Amino acid sequence: MRMPRPRKRNRDRKRLPAPAAPRWTDGLSDLSIAGDPLAFPHLARTDLPAHPTTLGGYARLVREIAADRARWEPLVRYDALTRWYARLETGPGYEVWLLSWLPGQSSGFHDHGRSSGVMTVVRGELSERSLTAGGEGSRALAAGGLRVLSPGYLHEMVNASLEPAVSVHLYTPGLVEMNQYPAAATAPERHRVH
Ligand SMILES: [Fe+2]
Repeated sequence: MRMPRPRKRNRDRKRLPAPAAPRWTDGLSDLSIAGDPLAFPHLARTDLPAHPTTLGGYARLVREIAADRARWEPLVRYDALTRWYARLETGPGYEVWLLSWLPGQSSGFHDHGRSSGVMTVVRGELSERSLTAGGEGSRALAAGGLRVLSPGYLHEMVNASLEPAVSVHLYTPGLVEMNQYPAAATAPERHRVH
């Protein structure tokens, strides 16, 4: 008569080796150096506004800044000798500029290199002349007016009114060059702006 073989209990089974810890080429990792960022609530905030990544998002941001006067009004300066501007904000892949225009001040004909832009007038009124394949155009931009500027768009902004004007401009990617043109567009003269 065959006797039943005793069943093998778990503890009798051969244990598999524990998986090896990941080996880093330099022996260090972000976690080993800084710890788990999710363990620190102030490093994992979720209440911060998301940065825009689309043209619609950039236009929305420009409108938000324009409506929040405390965000830009205390910073405005006027310069009788030259058009005044200052960088207001930066974000991943974009930057926002604040510009002031005394009566008669003008940008001259220019484009924005490979940057796209969104601009709005927040005080006073500006006049724009543009030059496209369809010919020359002109328009008045009152406070609240919004323009979207494509890469290579050629235009001139001027304060043709008798009152100071202020505008907010967003460029993406950040503005690294403006090609200045004589009044009638010919070969551009390249100027680094910062
Ligand atoms: Fe421009």
